[in-house]
Amino acid sequence: MLYKDNPKLHVLEHPLISHKLAILRNEKTGTHEFRVIVAEIATLITYEATRNMPTEPVDVQTPVGVAHCQTLSGKKVAIVPILRAGLGMVDGILNLLPSAKVGHIGLYRDPETLAPVEYYCKMPPDIAERDVIIVDPMLATGGSASAAIQFMKEYGCKKITMMNIIAAPEGMDCIAREHPDVEIYVAALDDCLNEHGYIVPGLGDAGDRIFGTK
Ligand code: PRP
Ligand code: URA
Repeated sequence: MLYKDNPKLHVLEHPLISHKLAILRNEKTGTHEFRVIVAEIATLITYEATRNMPTEPVDVQTPVGVAHCQTLSGKKVAIVPILRAGLGMVDGILNLLPSAKVGHIGLYRDPETLAPVEYYCKMPPDIAERDVIIVDPMLATGGSASAAIQFMKEYGCKKITMMNIIAAPEGMDCIAREHPDVEIYVAALDDCLNEHGYIVPGLGDAGDRIFGTK
């Protein structure tokens, strides 16, 4: 399946996200502002990605009467950032899902082969019972995301959602092909990859821009 036929792909279109993306993409944006905007976009994606979370009725006594309300009733959530750059999105998601637990997967792309290499993994003990949100600002070839999704499936996780800020068609195709069961939310779908596997026009190296390492 190609990404264009993937019913689980959601490309968010919203003026706030468009505005913040323009700041993020600008090569003149400094580390502090970049980090703040990554977290803000993560919050906005979370708002959309949680739209279908199950709720249950509850009656609440207000100072005036009884209100028939709804509260979240589904499984507990785990946020799983792909290190390093995924870390930049975690606080923005926790703003809306403060009781979520956080697991970490360390992956880097081999600069020659672009294949993902695992170097760290630490999950909450009850991870198999949680709904998992894997986060990484960039979905380029899709190798890192696909490997992270596979890890989580091997942990026994049943409901996995992927959140990215910018995705390339190659990465979207990879997820549609290898994990058609996974719901994906992206803030922008870009044109292509360059010869170094960077997203064009993209925003450069997300990890370096979040942590100021270049
Ligand atoms: C970046 C990015 C993704 C990966 C995307 O990480 O944060 O994890 O590349 O590329 P892919 O879709 O082709 O796998 P990177 O390897 O640069 O590591 P970093 O986060 O530590 O900078
Ligand atoms: N990783 C990044 O940080 N940026 C890209 O454009 C591709 C992979």
